[in-house]
Amino acid sequence: MAKFDFSKRDSFGSKIGIIAAAAGSAIGLGNIWRFPYVTGENGGAAFLLIYLGFIIMIGIPVMLSEFTIGRRAQRNPFGAFRLLKKGQPWYLIGLMGIAAAFFILAFYSTIAGWTLEYLYLSITDGFSGKSPEQLNSMFKKFQSDGWWPVIWQVIFMFFTAWIIYRGVRNGIEKYAKILMPVLLLIIFIICIRSVTLPGAIDGLRFLFKPDFSKINPSVILEALGQAFFSLSIGMGTLITYGSYINKRDNLSTTAISVSAADTFIAILAGVAIFPAVFAYGINPAEGEALVFITLPNIFMEMPGGYFWALLFFLLLVIAALTSTISVLEVVVAFFSEELNINRKQATIIASIAITILGVFCTLSQGPLNQPFIGENTLFEILEYTSANLFLPIGGFFIVIFVGWFMGRKNVDDEISNSGKFKLPLFNFFLVIVRIIAPIAIAMVFLYQLGILG
Ligand code: TRP
Repeated sequence: MAKFDFSKRDSFGSKIGIIAAAAGSAIGLGNIWRFPYVTGENGGAAFLLIYLGFIIMIGIPVMLSEFTIGRRAQRNPFGAFRLLKKGQPWYLIGLMGIAAAFFILAFYSTIAGWTLEYLYLSITDGFSGKSPEQLNSMFKKFQSDGWWPVIWQVIFMFFTAWIIYRGVRNGIEKYAKILMPVLLLIIFIICIRSVTLPGAIDGLRFLFKPDFSKINPSVILEALGQAFFSLSIGMGTLITYGSYINKRDNLSTTAISVSAADTFIAILAGVAIFPAVFAYGINPAEGEALVFITLPNIFMEMPGGYFWALLFFLLLVIAALTSTISVLEVVVAFFSEELNINRKQATIIASIAITILGVFCTLSQGPLNQPFIGENTLFEILEYTSANLFLPIGGFFIVIFVGWFMGRKNVDDEISNSGKFKLPLFNFFLVIVRIIAPIAIAMVFLYQLGILG
């Protein structure tokens, strides 16, 4: 079989396309579904503050590190580490990222499937006239139904695969450029509606007024995990996207814009959801069902609820889709560049393999709902281990690699586009990736394990 021809590698066409695609990856169910429920479970504002600290001190540097590795090597994560540090086992980090992509996409596509069901329900006016108890049991019944969630998941994976099949510029970039502005518009409209609800102030207080007694080691680990998950860092997604960034574009401003956009949208999602949660007396620690149970209630009690529900679930579907494509792309880039499978076949093989794992994940919420490890279902294990273990561990080695092994000159050269622009804080960046970020990540782990503190 012919070797992969690296001179014909696809790439992003424009700066705005890069930002749309990378922000599309970062902004997803992590912001709109996971951020509110994890914030709710971890006490609100104090969690948010720690989260913001991690985004700035660790998130942005890890993101810039990933872009730097990717664009330097022009390869998928496995190939990138192998090329940049020959003869040393750094490629294992790339392999771990590819495994993480399977895990993440498997459970993520479960939720993405739920969003399609809820979009369908809102189109067909399926919430109207239902009491809160009925909406609650409707969700539980659907979630544990068995086949419906699986069918939606397969449909969602099909859309994901279809975009990836079309390629980087004509698939990922093109759709991100259309979908991201729609997403922004929708979330703005919903926020305005939510903060003007009677009683909204309690929700805003929960989100913005910290109660530091709520902080403990597991809250800190959750905040770190959420920061990694939300920014799409720690598994090579942004190494892969970085490898498609043009040599002319500025990596540091891209990393900063994408992180800022992601954080902004997470906060907007909080602003959209918590006022409504409090206005209607719902428990903010409801868990993964939060947006699916809470919001239909709220929409049904609002004038124009049909329209709000439709907008919100459309928002979720769009957010999910621009993220799932970025995870699948990691696997497809690896298959096509390292295993010499052509891109189209690679897309088909990877999607089918991931969907199979995903189906078990979905069924673990229903008919196969039984403990997989400890008391947790397969879904819970995949979600928890990927966000709170794989990503921070990946991020730890990524910053160590850039800080200590890639060579200062290479890093400087790549970030400054061979000296064309200087990163004013380059030395500060180096201190972060060499020392501060690795120590911070390691400490969070040790605290969690009870070894420190
Ligand atoms: N960041 C996305 C979200 O918030 C999910 C995601 C996409 C992701 N690619 C990733 C998470 C890579 C971790 C790693 O929904």
